Amino acid sequence: MLELKNISWKAEDGADILKDVSFVVPDNKFVVITGPNGGGKTTTAKLIAGLMAPTSGQIIFDGTDITKLGATERAKTGIGYAFQQPVRFKGITVRELIEMAAGKALNEADICHALTEVGLCANEYADREVNASLSGGEIKRIEIATVLARHTELSVFDEPEAGIDLWSFTNLIEIFTRHRESRKGSMLVVSHQERLLNIADEIIVIADGKVTKQGTREEILPTLFTTGKACKSCPKQGN
Ligand SMILES: Nc1ncnc2c1ncn2[C@@H]1O[C@H](COP(=O)(O)OP(=O)(O)OP(=O)(O)O)[C@@H](O)[C@H]1O
Ligand SMILES: [Mg+2]
Repeated sequence: MLELKNISWKAEDGADILKDVSFVVPDNKFVVITGPNGGGKTTTAKLIAGLMAPTSGQIIFDGTDITKLGATERAKTGIGYAFQQPVRFKGITVRELIEMAAGKALNEADICHALTEVGLCANEYADREVNASLSGGEIKRIEIATVLARHTELSVFDEPEAGIDLWSFTNLIEIFTRHRESRKGSMLVVSHQERLLNIADEIIVIADGKVTKQGTREEILPTLFTTGKACKSCPKQGN
């Protein structure tokens, strides 16, 4: 179980980006974080992955305080993370990247399975370099394949749908549905996609740096997608 306790994060310029964020990701659950652009979702995901340190608060994973651990140590404790905008690794092939993620050498069948899951043909992609020649959607799918190959206790995906075409997105939903049903580890997915929200066990809404809603899908889903409030500082339309 992952627990965020009163997490706050202040940017270098002093802006309060996250303000007292607390929530729990229970074991073997599929939890989706959603909310408006700039609300603090990626910041929350990065704090969980250990890519940034909170200004205050605690992160507890399986009863251990991991607040002070860096990204590598967190990965060792069983947390996997897929970036909203994946990093490219010049000089490393897709096969090597998946093997590094899995932590062992893989045979052709394993590589093929990892890539097929994300809709890529191993023959075409396994020996390509993870460099700028890959399209945005391809790199995103490879990133998802590496996190899935790790079989971590908690996998965090930041907007897995970003840059993925509709056809591949349908496959992605199937992959996530399968992993959810296998109940091997928890998934924490940042998403704006209704189809991902539809398979969530629990939904957390983060807006303006705070958790504004959290609960089961049945509780939260009907309250989403209602008409948004106008910006407070804008003049009313028609005036
Ligand atoms: N290093 C930083 N310095 C200053 N502000 C930052 C920094 N990192 C993030 N922010 C700001 O914090 C807010 C939250 O950013 P974050 O990336 O977490 O949003 P998000 O909810 O993931 O949005 P999106 O849906 O657009 O991906 C934004 O207003 C962003 O500009
Ligand atoms: Mg984001």
